[in-house]
Amino acid sequence: MTTTPTIIGSERSEIGFPAAMDLLREGASALDAVEVALRLCEDNLADHYVGTGGLPNARGEVELDASVMIGSTRAFGAVGAVRGYPHPISIARAVLERLAQHCLLVGEGAELFAEENGFERAQLLTDEARKLFLEALDPSEESVEGEQTRATAGDDNYRMAAMELMKRFAPHSGPWGTINVIALDASGEMCVGVSTSGYPWKYPGRVGDSAIPGAGNYCDLRFGGAACTGRGEMSMRVTGARSIVDDLGRGIDPTQACRSMLADAATLPDLFKTELRCLALTPDGRHGGASGQVGSTYALMTPSHSEPELRPRSVVPS
Ligand code: GLY
Repeated sequence: MTTTPTIIGSERSEIGFPAAMDLLREGASALDAVEVALRLCEDNLADHYVGTGGLPNARGEVELDASVMIGSTRAFGAVGAVRGYPHPISIARAVLERLAQHCLLVGEGAELFAEENGFERAQLLTDEARKLFLEALDPSEESVEGEQTRATAGDDNYRMAAMELMKRFAPHSGPWGTINVIALDASGEMCVGVSTSGYPWKYPGRVGDSAIPGAGNYCDLRFGGAACTGRGEMSMRVTGARSIVDDLGRGIDPTQACRSMLADAATLPDLFKTELRCLALTPDGRHGGASGQVGSTYALMTPSHSEPELRPRSVVPS
């Protein structure tokens, strides 16, 4: 029996869908489709939340997180806080396929692995991202000063400065955030992929939910796949993607499963109070998404689509 290939993703993922759907139509794997879609997102210089052009950490360095998870085996590969490599999703895939004894590499170790495996290096901080980064640092404010920002000290000053900067940047009216892609292929296999530059002005070395199984990414072919965008610390605290998939396993539909996870996260104290979003896909092709912001969408494409379609996410006020 063949399954109808389906691909869903967070805001701005649709840039990669036509190429991914071409592959799925030809019978390629969900993993191939996810990787192709996310590489195109990582190459999108207009997108400041992923790959080249992503906004940097508190020291002005772009650090990337990414992961892939396979539904039938629950095999997981991820990298965190990687610098200088433009396609972290492909390095995450290589961890999954070539380093079976591990799931997650971070920082220098991830960069060493990328070098050993021949991944190309690149300058990730674009002029535009650097300008956005610097513009948000208002030197007239007492809490922000120094070489780039005082936000390198790891003390109260850092925390207060970072909080103000994060509030200034997200959520805002335009599409923003990490990229999630979930694909179902004709063989019935499913894969979830996530790629991000993480929070702008994050503390150097901070790894978010995008690289953590069960938090930003989870896939279990018995029930479905889920992924998160936005405030990764919250999805780590509630193991967001895993809790959505658990609800799918209880027969709860994807939209309601996403809503329940956001409602749970909203009960927790969080000084930063930035938005969390999520989406989910089942092995029989049902899908849904939720967010804390009115007007947010997720992208959908099946073989009958000539181009990606945007669907509204259900809103859960936080
Ligand atoms: N959800 C992405 C991050 O927190 O880095």
